[in-house]
Amino acid sequence: MNSPENRKQPVSGRAVDDPSYYRSEPVSFVRRGSRLQGRRLAAWEKYAGQYLYEVPRDIADTSVSRQAGFDQEAVFGRTAPLTVEIGSGLGEAIVTAAAAHPERDYLAVEVYAPGLAQLMLRAGKQGLTNVRVIQANAPEVLEHLLAPGSVDELWVFFPDPWHKSRHHKRRLVKESFADRAHRALRPGGLWRLATDWEEYAHQMRDVLEADTRFENLHDGEAGGWAPRFEGRVQTSFETKALAAGRSIFDLAYRRR
Ligand SMILES: C[S@@+](CC[C@H](N)C(=O)[O-])C[C@H]1O[C@@H](n2cnc3c(N)ncnc32)[C@H](O)[C@@H]1O
Repeated sequence: MNSPENRKQPVSGRAVDDPSYYRSEPVSFVRRGSRLQGRRLAAWEKYAGQYLYEVPRDIADTSVSRQAGFDQEAVFGRTAPLTVEIGSGLGEAIVTAAAAHPERDYLAVEVYAPGLAQLMLRAGKQGLTNVRVIQANAPEVLEHLLAPGSVDELWVFFPDPWHKSRHHKRRLVKESFADRAHRALRPGGLWRLATDWEEYAHQMRDVLEADTRFENLHDGEAGGWAPRFEGRVQTSFETKALAAGRSIFDLAYRRR
């Protein structure tokens, strides 16, 4: 019933304001305060022309057409290794990395417009030329937009944990997402993850340990957890998690 062929049909049982309404799988986000105002609206107007990559859509407004493509060399005007951050939030991590590594290209994938506006404002103030942003559902970006094997590093930091078991199906990191990550990453490319939700950390590790297409960079060390990735700055989200007394779990895998 929910096969890709009939995904333009609304999925029965989903509310019309559920972003999964037209999709074959539930999405990992909800619609929330996406209206741009004030400083962020001004930032969007000033910087979208420079940083926003407009994606051809399928039926939903955060979807990605199957005919879409992303020509990295044409977009950035050069050849460079590409880091993709999924769910970049306010852009703290990716903009810091882009400023520190002008020799690399960075692509932020986020559905939340105010976060993207904030990211573009940070990048614009620093005059960065090696960052672009995409407002779309990440699994579709990995599956339809990015060329197979085109990503050097994939980052998924603090994906929404969807605590309740009846919502676990909405979690981003699961087998189907690993397929999409595998497709997008180059052989030898790295997938870095972090979460403050212990049970989700175990789910991530279980998914990746069971997937022989990925190799744990810290296999056999302290439960297979990675040390904190030095390129991952402490975001406001992480600050809140630490203040609430939660531990942070990092993982790092190489695509074979
Ligand atoms: C908990 S926040 C973490 C943000 C950031 N990584 C940080 O560490 O501060 C998760 C972010 O992922 C975004 N997100 C969730 N599902 C997404 C999806 N399917 N595609 C793109 N972005 C998504 C949300 O909008 C939210 O901004």
